[in-house]
Order: sequence, then C-alpha cells, then structure tokens
Amino acid sequence: MKFQGSAGYVATPDLMLAVNAAVTLKRPLLVKGEPGTGKTMLAEQVAEALGMPLLQWHVKSTTKAQQGLYEYDAVSRLRDSQLAGVGDDKVRDIRNYIVKGVLWQAFTAEQPMALLIDEIDKADIEFPNDLLRELDRMEFYVYETRELVKAVHRPVVFITSNNEKELPDAFLRRCFFHYIKFPDADTMRAIVDVHFPGLKKELLAAALKSFYDIRNLPGLKKKPSTSELLDWLKLLVAEDIPADALQSKDDKVAIPPLVGALLKNEQDVTLFEKLVFMQRHNR
Ligand SMILES: Nc1ncnc2c1ncn2[C@@H]1O[C@H](COP(=O)(O)OP(=O)(O)OP(=O)(O)O)[C@@H](O)[C@H]1O
Ligand SMILES: [Mg+2]
Repeated sequence: MKFQGSAGYVATPDLMLAVNAAVTLKRPLLVKGEPGTGKTMLAEQVAEALGMPLLQWHVKSTTKAQQGLYEYDAVSRLRDSQLAGVGDDKVRDIRNYIVKGVLWQAFTAEQPMALLIDEIDKADIEFPNDLLRELDRMEFYVYETRELVKAVHRPVVFITSNNEKELPDAFLRRCFFHYIKFPDADTMRAIVDVHFPGLKKELLAAALKSFYDIRNLPGLKKKPSTSELLDWLKLLVAEDIPADALQSKDDKVAIPPLVGALLKNEQDVTLFEKLVFMQRHNR
C-alpha cells in the first residue's frame, strides 16, 4: 500500500516519500505550507488512493481535544429522565449518552481509517498537548463507563497547520513532518492541467508569468497561492479573456484583469499599482 499520487492531485516525489514514511512509521503526518497549497486535499486524496474512508476533524478556536474522543450528553439524559422517568432503561445506562468523537470512530472501525485533523493551529496550545497519548498509544480511557478504547487498526493520521501557533515539542516528536513547498512553475503547470485540461498554452503561459510576477513582489502582505491561481484561471476562461490582455505590449508588468482573485487586500493592490506605474514611468 503505497501512495503514488492520484489523477486529481499532483504530488511531488518528496511529498509522496513523506506520506509513505508516515504510513510506515505509523506516525501522524504533520503537513505545513502556505494556505491553498493542497494540505487538506492531500488527506482526501491519500485516503482515496489507499482505499481508506476518511474521517475529518476541522479544528476551530473553541475545539477541545476531548471532543475528538467522546462527549457525555448530559442534557439529553436529563430531558429523557424528565419525559420517561429516571427508572427508564435507556436513561439508566450512561452509555446511551456517550457521543463518540472522530478518534473513537477511527479506532473502532472495522477497517483501517484515515483521519484528518485539519488546521490544528487554530485551537489553543492545550489541544495538541491533550492529544499526545491518544495519538501515540492510540488508546484512551472513558471515565464514565470505565472502559479503555484501543485502536483495532491504527488510523493513518494527517494533521495540517498554517503556522498560526507553534506546536509543542512533545507533540512534534510524535509526528513525521512535511512542508509543502510552494510549487515551482512546472509543478504548477501540472496542477493547472489537472483542473483545466484543455487550457490554451498562451493563456497559461501569460497567466503563470503574471502570477509569479505578483508573488515575487517584495512586501506583499498575502501572496496568492495555488487555489487563487486556479480561481483566477477559471474567471479568465469564463470571461474569455485573451492571453495578450494579461501583459502590456513591452512585456512589463501590467495590472491583470480580475486581479481581485489574486490580491486580497487593498495594501497589496496599491503596492502593485505603484510598481506598475513606476515601471511605466521609467521607460
Ligand atoms: N497539488 C495539487 N494538485 C491539485 N490541486 C491542488 C494541489 N494543490 C492545491 N490544489 C488546489 O487548491 C485547492 C486548495 O487546496 P487545499 O484546500 O487542500 O489547501 P490547503 O493547503 O488546505 O489550504 P488552507 O491552509 O487554506 O486550508 C484545492 O481545492 C485544489 O483545487
Ligand atoms: Mg486546508
């Protein structure tokens, strides 16, 4: 069972190596990289390629580690006890009110599962610390029912981070790490080809040139990434914009049409406009 990329996802050799290393080591794969470089999609594609169902856990600032294990639904139990009485069979058995989280589901599934813990850096610092033992030993204890939940099959775990917070060392020690480097022009061409198979060569070349020109501007607050390029190309195709509209005649940087798909704040747009203006002036 090796991951060798998929038809819908372009994986560089070092990324494939990292995925297979994490699977072999049976450690979670921690994937970092700029927003929109395919971290979340990687988990979906690997799961599909390895034929494993994927459980997804999208982390928010309020997410607690416990929610991934299980939650005790005291409110439902109280309501049931009021409706049916405390002597009711369902109400008496606390197990009826334990809601299984994604880790529990992954641990006890009949077949090996893939598990995505997406954007772990959104939660507070306790979150990764609270999951150390669970991810390491692949087991946890349910205090309410006094049972130990142990993984039947170790799930393949993907953890993504946008680097908003540092992760604790003890957590890092337990992961295999991979940073998705921003795709070079060739890889990007392959990625675009997956999404827009019949795109005109001239349009692609002109769009890629504008795109990398913008990305290379010094001082940008938010560099456009893969997903933004794909959005932009989609618009260019939909609006039927020709390749030569993306560049000025003298091959200098021009403000491309629909630049709002690439630049997402006014400082960056102003910076870009200034640069174009200066270039024109210096001719
Ligand atoms: N290597 C790739 N092959 C094919 N498509 C890609 C690739 N990388 C990115 N994409 C495209 O970019 C989009 C964004 O990818 P994804 O949502 O996985 O990014 P992300 O790294 O998880 O971003 P964020 O950090 O914002 O969550 C995908 O829907 C996909 O269309
Ligand atoms: Mg993502």
